[in-house]
Amino acid sequence: MSEPAQDRNGNVIELRDVAKAYGEKRVLTSATLEVRRGEVLVIMGGSGTGKSVTIRHMLGLEQPDAGEVYVDGEEISRYSESQLYGVRMKFGMLFQSGGLFDSMTVFENVAFPLREHSDTPEEELERRVEEALEMVQLPGSGKLMPVDLSGGMRKRVGLARAIVHRPEVILYDEPTTGLDPITADKINELIVSLQRRLEVTSIVVTHDIQSAFYVGDRIAYLNGGVFEWVGTMEEARRTDHPTLRQFLVTSNVTSAQPV
Ligand SMILES: Nc1ncnc2c1ncn2[C@@H]1O[C@H](COP(=O)(O)OP(=O)(O)OP(=O)(O)O)[C@@H](O)[C@H]1O
Ligand SMILES: [Mg+2]
Repeated sequence: MSEPAQDRNGNVIELRDVAKAYGEKRVLTSATLEVRRGEVLVIMGGSGTGKSVTIRHMLGLEQPDAGEVYVDGEEISRYSESQLYGVRMKFGMLFQSGGLFDSMTVFENVAFPLREHSDTPEEELERRVEEALEMVQLPGSGKLMPVDLSGGMRKRVGLARAIVHRPEVILYDEPTTGLDPITADKINELIVSLQRRLEVTSIVVTHDIQSAFYVGDRIAYLNGGVFEWVGTMEEARRTDHPTLRQFLVTSNVTSAQPV
């Protein structure tokens, strides 16, 4: 039996001792992570450490070999596809590439989750799509084709699509990777403004430490199959965890002097 959300300390998502291997390769060994309702949690870690695999567990796209995955207090790791449908509706996901369908207009791209998941009347759908486009500062752009868009605009359309069905949780996988610094800053500002406006919980996977400190309330650092360090941004600046500290020093977030 799954427990109600409030019995899990208000955490919207929890991983408990999750283990996941692909063949011989043990990616997660005992990953434990709590995501608090309303926060922006940044997941950091080296390439191939399992950040995307962690996200896939939250969506029920992977089943853990051991351990538990809770979403809103429900243990989802053995859910059927039809049960997972309801779970996935709680999430909006911004893919690294924006993940747009190149043959569809911006309007149809953003409308896609509503068409897929509900029988929203056309008028309501148009209103919701325009509202989502307005939130990402692209009002009136529904008729454009993805080919007409810059990299930053593609990300914003992808973001409009991620929020159009009003998810509880927004997952961002490398939202600023590949963007110039000015465009990346705009995406960071959007993450923060959407957080306030939509009262969501956000999980941001990123290598971009400047971005992490701009948007994040807390950092979870994945290494060796476990979340080795979890804490607030202020705690991260003062951490003596060797690799995390090295990460931060390299990107000038904190000084090399011990504190
Ligand atoms: N479906 C799969 N089959 C086999 N191996 C997989 C599968 N999915 C992930 N892996 C392996 O698991 C490891 C972790 O992958 P993951 O994509 O989560 O890394 P990541 O931390 O997101 O890295 P990056 O920063 O490069 O995106 C990698 O070694 C990857 O090859
Ligand atoms: Mg990844």
